[in-house]
Amino acid sequence: MTTSPRVRLAATDHEPARDLPAIGQGTWYLGEGLAPREDEVRALQHGLAHGLTLIDTAEMYGDGGAEEVVGEALADRRDEAFLVSKVYPWNAGRDSAIAACEASLRRLRTDHLDLYLLHWPGSISLDETLEAFERLREAGKIRRFGVSNFDVEEMAALSALPGGAACAVNQVLYHLGSRGIEHSLLPWQRERGIPTMAYCPLAQAGTLRRDLLGHPEVKAVAAELGITPTQLLLAWAISPNHGARDVIAIPKATQLEHVEQNAAALAVELDAESLARLDAVFPAPSRKTALDIV
Ligand SMILES: NC(=O)c1ccc[n+]([C@@H]2O[C@H](COP(=O)([O-])OP(=O)(O)OC[C@H]3O[C@@H](n4cnc5c(N)ncnc54)[C@H](OP(=O)(O)O)[C@@H]3O)[C@@H](O)[C@H]2O)c1
Repeated sequence: MTTSPRVRLAATDHEPARDLPAIGQGTWYLGEGLAPREDEVRALQHGLAHGLTLIDTAEMYGDGGAEEVVGEALADRRDEAFLVSKVYPWNAGRDSAIAACEASLRRLRTDHLDLYLLHWPGSISLDETLEAFERLREAGKIRRFGVSNFDVEEMAALSALPGGAACAVNQVLYHLGSRGIEHSLLPWQRERGIPTMAYCPLAQAGTLRRDLLGHPEVKAVAAELGITPTQLLLAWAISPNHGARDVIAIPKATQLEHVEQNAAALAVELDAESLARLDAVFPAPSRKTALDIV
């Protein structure tokens, strides 16, 4: 695992730079009874053991149920994980964000989050949210803050606010079949050293959802490389783009075999020919499009 690709979170005034694995673990739909709880807990622990040490959750998922599953998985190994959670936009006020974070911490059975994200832009002023994030940081309850589902204009507005430029990441929908962010959002963030967390990296959602895993070219390229189509999609999402390694994919997987395949995708380096073949079928955007969301 030592040679696995890593993505660097920049140092802040209060935290040193932090290198994270380029593939983490999502948790949407955990804690909803879709799979036995012990299977969900075991899958997250299995992922940790295989180097998928970033865990992404949210107060929204399963109405707190996903955070409870994560809390159980991390009960005796909190230090092994880089833990990310998200606040609903309507809970992102000066005081409500503090209460929401404290409730997340209780469900997660921890005293701090490594990263706390605003789940999507809402109607509460970002000034207020930033103030709450700063109070949470001062209290040691969060180490860094970031956002999710922000397009370029929203990122620019955020970074113009006092403290806003310290935004650590933006988490957005990104997969081979939905490349809109490559036109302007990704370059904007890259210029400022703000990594992207790619959600739905296996194309399980989004308005541009396609059956990527069953696409003949995806299957053909994967077969020639001796990997699965899902590993191809993950390796593609995290492959260095314009020389930068700044995308972290966060697939959700409950089946242990899936977890292992996803971890093994960290070792897959796509060659130029494979990337070109995928580009030919799934071209990069030539113009700005609306941010794809779930
Ligand atoms: N910020 C946001 O607004 C936002 C929105 C959506 C998602 N997210 C985050 O991003 C995470 C990932 O997105 P997602 O859960 O929607 O979709 P996803 O990760 O693209 O897909 C999840 C699905 O893929 C399957 N899968 C995982 N690994 C596989 C493999 N190796 N082979 C075959 N199938 C595999 C899973 O099956 P099993 O579970 O059966 O293994 C599950 O059905 C979420 O869990 C959440 O943490 C954030």
